[in-house]
Amino acid sequence: TEVIIVKNQDDAGSIYAQRVAQLIGSKPDCVLGLATGSSPLAAYRQLAALVASDSIDVSKVRGFALDEYAGLDPNHPQSYKSTINRTVVEPLGLDPEKIHVPNGNLSTIAEAGHAYDKAIEEARGVDIQILGIGTDGHIGFNEPGSSLASGTRIKTLTEQTRIDNARFFDDDINQVPTHCITQGIGTILKARHLILLAFGSGKAEAIAETVEGGISSFCPASALQLHPHATVIVDEAAASRLR
Ligand code: F6R
Repeated sequence: TEVIIVKNQDDAGSIYAQRVAQLIGSKPDCVLGLATGSSPLAAYRQLAALVASDSIDVSKVRGFALDEYAGLDPNHPQSYKSTINRTVVEPLGLDPEKIHVPNGNLSTIAEAGHAYDKAIEEARGVDIQILGIGTDGHIGFNEPGSSLASGTRIKTLTEQTRIDNARFFDDDINQVPTHCITQGIGTILKARHLILLAFGSGKAEAIAETVEGGISSFCPASALQLHPHATVIVDEAAASRLR
């Protein structure tokens, strides 16, 4: 795993943006793996700026998001569908038809995971997958204990994750969905290049486990060690527990 220590989120974001811009130049219909959460926001901003200043043609770019809440209306402002639209699709000017988010509709969720993995395969896989990491080492909504070979599937949200995310639902945990649909760790590992971003001391322990700990489902992100092309970009605080 390649580790890059940067000064701040903007510097991390511009490394991501340059690699993606290069990719779009050589493969205009490339496939981006997208994440929600706070860690990738600067990267999306830097990419949007680069796309605008170099007038990069993004009309053919395709994308697959990592995860979605189960049983939440996709039009709800906190659905990951809405969040990806707001933070990625609109600022970059992507074609919304080409950007996919797992379908959290409860009536079809049993088959939706397999269908999503098939759609990724039919797109010939993800070129660059951006990832954040939870303080417990989760990637996507793959909490500790998730199979490292898992495909996209329904998962129960942990109590901690629901507490963490209550801030987006009027600080009311009862409004936070109890389940989600998430790309599996096996799905994520199929992407050709993984770029994991982490900032702040709260992520330091998880980053040390991810990069230097044993490969274990107790730290789902440690599966990055199995990947031939994984890049971890961190600030000094998130790197502080590395040896
Ligand atoms: C987002 C996702 C999560 C987050 C992680 C870190 O789609 O799947 O794994 O990447 O919870 O969140 P932030 O970046 O907000 O610290």
